[in-house]
Amino acid sequence: MDSLLLQALQCKNTKRPPVWLMRQAGRYMPAYRALREKYSFLEMCHQPELIADVTMLPIDAFGMDAAILFSDILMIPEALQVGLTFEEKKGPVIARPLSTAEDVKALPAFDVAESLHFVAKGIACVKERLRVPLIGFCGAPFTVASYLIEGGSSRDLRKTKKWLLNDPQSFHELLSTLTRHSIAYLKMQIQAGVAAVQVFDSWTQMLAPTQLREFSFSYLKQIVDAIQPLGVPVIVFGKGFGPNIQELAAIRPTAISVDWGSDLKSLRRSLPAGIALQGNLDPDILHAPKERLRAEVNALLDAMQGDSGYIFNLGHGIHPETSMEHVRTLVETVQCR
Ligand code: CP3
Repeated sequence: MDSLLLQALQCKNTKRPPVWLMRQAGRYMPAYRALREKYSFLEMCHQPELIADVTMLPIDAFGMDAAILFSDILMIPEALQVGLTFEEKKGPVIARPLSTAEDVKALPAFDVAESLHFVAKGIACVKERLRVPLIGFCGAPFTVASYLIEGGSSRDLRKTKKWLLNDPQSFHELLSTLTRHSIAYLKMQIQAGVAAVQVFDSWTQMLAPTQLREFSFSYLKQIVDAIQPLGVPVIVFGKGFGPNIQELAAIRPTAISVDWGSDLKSLRRSLPAGIALQGNLDPDILHAPKERLRAEVNALLDAMQGDSGYIFNLGHGIHPETSMEHVRTLVETVQCR
């Protein structure tokens, strides 16, 4: 329990804030792109040795205070046999998206520990090499449902929103199924050795506050309630959480991770004690000149100075075109405090 991340997650960190970055293991790294010349993204997600190698890339290059498991939130859809592929320039594509209540009922039952065993093996592999905490993760039920329904990334989630408004019952059935799988999946990751987990609800900015409550927070709560008693911290990340943070705090996640649309210091004032806060530098700031980058990082650190439950991160993932040198500058600026 002496790591900065685990201390901050308990709101007991008296030193500088820990720093890690969403999508820290990814295409902005030449070493990652070199591996991608040889393997497809899904091949890399399936091979334990490669999972470990890619998870370690940013730790070896920059020394972040935590590693995030290299995998994807779409491993559960893949196990649901909807025909997941990743296409160059397009991202994830689901060949057989869901469109009716019958499609939800017809989803195959699967044993998470069996189907996603390679992830547990990857965790065991990386644990042997890692000196900082490993963060496991899954997609939140709402966000994963949106990929299953849209058939890939979508700008407006129109099909998803039409479904949840016209047939909330079957939408809830889908969310319940995904919640069950997510809990089993996180438990498997915890058994394999992750020190904390993050649940990514990346598309919640599309939901109005009442929808957020009904289709996102209530399922995040089920995950938090199932995982926290195991003694493992649960971080919930979502876009657009800022204005609704008090309601989210009521489900008592260990930590809340927010996008760059909110002032973090003001959010802290509106949170009850004992909930850690993670974020929220605009990832585009990594494209600014180094002086400006340092100033923005320091401004965020100044604003959160003395906060025992603060974890430095971006407001969303690193863009693929980000410079390695600027990532190094960011990490050094936080770690030199
Ligand atoms: O953060 C990390 O470094 C750990 C690994 C990780 C990946 N995806 C690797 C990845 C994590 C935590 C994720 C989460 C994820 N995956 C989310 C939630 C976070 C977010 O960004 O909102 C979502 C929505 C996905 C689904 C997904 N995976 C999309 C939409 C895409 C395509 C878009 C893109 O950025 O390329 C992916 C592909 C993906 N996931 C890559 C990586 C490194 C790039 C794949 C490649 O090499 O071509």
